[in-house]
Amino acid sequence: KSSYILKELEEKCATPSSKLRLIADAMSVEMHAGLASEGGSKLKMIISFVDNLPTGDEQGVYYALDLGGTNFRVLRVQLAGQSGIDSQEFAEVSIPPQLMVGSSEALFDYIAAEVAKFVGDESEKFGPLPGRQRELGFTFSFPVLQLSIDSGTLIRWTKGFSIDEMVGKDVVAELTKAMERKGVNMRVSALVNDTVGTLAGGRYDNKDVFIAVILGTGTNAAYVERAQAIPKWHGPHPKSGEMVINMEWGNFRSSHLPLTEYDNTLDAESLNPGEQIFEKMISGMYLGEIVRRILCRMADEADLFGDTVPPKLKTPFILRTPEMSAMHHDTSPDLKVVGNTLKDILEIPNVPISTRKIVVEVCNIIATRGARLAAAGILGILKKTSRDTIKDDEVPKTVIAMDGGLYEHYKEYRHCLENTLNELVGDEVAKHIKFVHSNDGSGIGAALLAASHSQYI
Ligand code: BG6
Ligand code: GLC
Repeated sequence: KSSYILKELEEKCATPSSKLRLIADAMSVEMHAGLASEGGSKLKMIISFVDNLPTGDEQGVYYALDLGGTNFRVLRVQLAGQSGIDSQEFAEVSIPPQLMVGSSEALFDYIAAEVAKFVGDESEKFGPLPGRQRELGFTFSFPVLQLSIDSGTLIRWTKGFSIDEMVGKDVVAELTKAMERKGVNMRVSALVNDTVGTLAGGRYDNKDVFIAVILGTGTNAAYVERAQAIPKWHGPHPKSGEMVINMEWGNFRSSHLPLTEYDNTLDAESLNPGEQIFEKMISGMYLGEIVRRILCRMADEADLFGDTVPPKLKTPFILRTPEMSAMHHDTSPDLKVVGNTLKDILEIPNVPISTRKIVVEVCNIIATRGARLAAAGILGILKKTSRDTIKDDEVPKTVIAMDGGLYEHYKEYRHCLENTLNELVGDEVAKHIKFVHSNDGSGIGAALLAASHSQYI
């Protein structure tokens, strides 16, 4: 019976390249629709107000806050123009889970207190700053309707955050008020999504960076669009002729997506049912949980772990993606890592090797599906921007800045994603596409954008 469930899973999760192409086409159609009008698509295609990416001339001391990934970070960078980054310090904490679903004041007070601590330590180290207000770039990695480069209202929460009273409010105003309460004198000069920050940080290092993709707790992409291709933009035509778009691709959905009963129940029981369907198939917050749900069914209907379902296995989100990844990468002959993970995390001892192999296969099916879908998403962007084919012997170089824990740590996933994109575009085009890991590029990107939007220039 387990092998029947496994076979059925494999079939339902299949992502042949023909299907991925349909998904990429659907993505590109939705991109057009989202750019045409506000609310025109599930893809928000948010105008970031970033129409100039870093040039390398940025100078001075700037700060960044990074909220929305696994950890909250405060960063200070000293930019020295064309000689690059002179120095860089950061502090990192995790956000206590109760603050993710509490009140907006409590969340922002916590953040502001961390900033106060960081700035306090900093004056001890560097002495008082010359009489200028400190400026910071705020990376806030949730869907925000951007009103200007330094303001924007929260559209909705994703990734396990849920504070209703914040929805519709300006996140910069909330942060500024909290910093005032904590006695921190800082101005937010740029509000950016993590994808936009990663794009900016990536461009600083490499002029050919054109797309940024986050594969971490959540997933999303940003890219450089021609201003003329954004009918819903009624502001002044940017000098550069370009505008960075935050796609919010996590909310993409299409009838071509290989959804299973496990995805449907995960979605229905989530904090945001009906939303972020692409994200729930692809990103780090959910992959381990999908695997748990499959194992649970196998335990229930096929006695995978004996004649009862092990109680721990019934606990939502107990199996996290890092553990799934560790099991998937287990190369020991007796699958020791799988055995230990099942024992330590799920309290299932003495699992025979044949069962361990089934567990690895489930991890493989779910990671492969996620990685291949992410590649289809990237193909959608390449199609929309005509970078997926060779025209007149010319293919522009496309560098894709990647970040996020899933991309960084889940090797099989990363390889599968990169190989799938090559498979989809073909060898000739693939030669012109490069992935780079932009480690914490989003914080630096936000600081660079704070510099280019400083009140002092
Ligand atoms: C970090 C970036 O490296 O990756 C963040 O600085 C981003 O801005 C994060 O949100 C995403 O990855 P994860 O795995 O922390 O969700
Ligand atoms: C979620 C957020 C999005 C963010 C992504 C990656 O999808 O909605 O804004 O970029 O996670 O962190």
